[in-house]
Amino acid sequence: MRLTNHYLLLLSLIILGSCNAKKEKNAVSLKDSYKNDFYIGTALDTNQIKEKNVKEDSLIKKEFNAITAENIMKSMYMHPAKDKYDFALSDKFVVYGEKNKMFVHGHTLIWHSQLAPWMTEIKDSTEMKAFMKDHITTIVSKYKGRIDSWDVVNEALNEDGTLRKSVFLNTLGEQYLVDAFKLAAAADPKADLYYNDYNNEEPAKREGNINLIKKIKAAGGKVDGVGIQAHWRLDSPSIEMIEESILAYSALGLKVAFTELDITVLPNPWDLKGADINQNFEGSAKMNPYPEKLPDSVQVKLAERYASIFKLFLKHKDKISRVTLWGVHDGQSWLNDWPIKGRTNYPLLFDKELKPKKAYQSVLKLKETKE
Ligand code: XIL
Repeated sequence: MRLTNHYLLLLSLIILGSCNAKKEKNAVSLKDSYKNDFYIGTALDTNQIKEKNVKEDSLIKKEFNAITAENIMKSMYMHPAKDKYDFALSDKFVVYGEKNKMFVHGHTLIWHSQLAPWMTEIKDSTEMKAFMKDHITTIVSKYKGRIDSWDVVNEALNEDGTLRKSVFLNTLGEQYLVDAFKLAAAADPKADLYYNDYNNEEPAKREGNINLIKKIKAAGGKVDGVGIQAHWRLDSPSIEMIEESILAYSALGLKVAFTELDITVLPNPWDLKGADINQNFEGSAKMNPYPEKLPDSVQVKLAERYASIFKLFLKHKDKISRVTLWGVHDGQSWLNDWPIKGRTNYPLLFDKELKPKKAYQSVLKLKETKE
């Protein structure tokens, strides 16, 4: 009797196993298709970190193998007052990555935006040095060995490649950049440390970025990679410009990551480029042309644009560490509210119903034809 039970159990395990194998074969995903190339990441909002929506949660786990917190690790949330840190959500975020065996990226330590108000009042170099030491050391050591890479400094450059005025630059001069990278390396020597920015594929800003990283390294800072945010448009930047940037940065021995990829399909006010989150413009019907549905012709354009971008990424996969989309699906994208509030944008690979778009298929197709 016991033997029969064992046989039955064994038989059902075998049948179950072969069903699962079949399922696996059919379950194509971004992360599996690109597993030998680079990480495919996404940015998680608070509800996604809390696993509030089962459908979204299973999509994230199926498609992505790297995560960035879209907001909760910015200083206004993590360090709201001088003597107060809040790690409740960042703890959840890191555990989420660990239990799903994902690459966990920390965003971001030193940034002029989304600062806690008290930080903007720091007046002199002594106070700023103390702040940076406490802030970076506390956060990076807390997650030592658990956060794989950090955006140590975000958006320190102007469009012409000079250094952006900020509370950090005002109090410490450009030394703040060297200090930030040194402090982060001391707190977790094994984490990969990135400088992250938008438009740093544009020649002038790229030049400034390269000089900046050279200077930081010459002064003893450890910089492992450069993050190109990649908040892009249907027709710009050109593939050539992106390629030149991959080559120029990796020639410095840096890893290149595309950290916040999305492609707006909406008109830009005054040909705005980039991702300065402090810029806002008045909306109008003209500026929100697809409130209900994206026309098929634009859907196709978006798919073609994604395909040519990923084709380039594949060409340089040896230089690229990670490609992260800035959000899981269109409904969640910050581009519905920036730079004009209340529009309907379609910048990602899944629509707001979580269905894969033509752009998703076009990104997957690049791998099907190759292997
Ligand atoms: C954005 C978030 O997506 C929004 O939810 C938030 O309101 C503003 O910030 N560059 C960055 C990101 O480095 O942190 C920004 O994220 C987008 C631009």
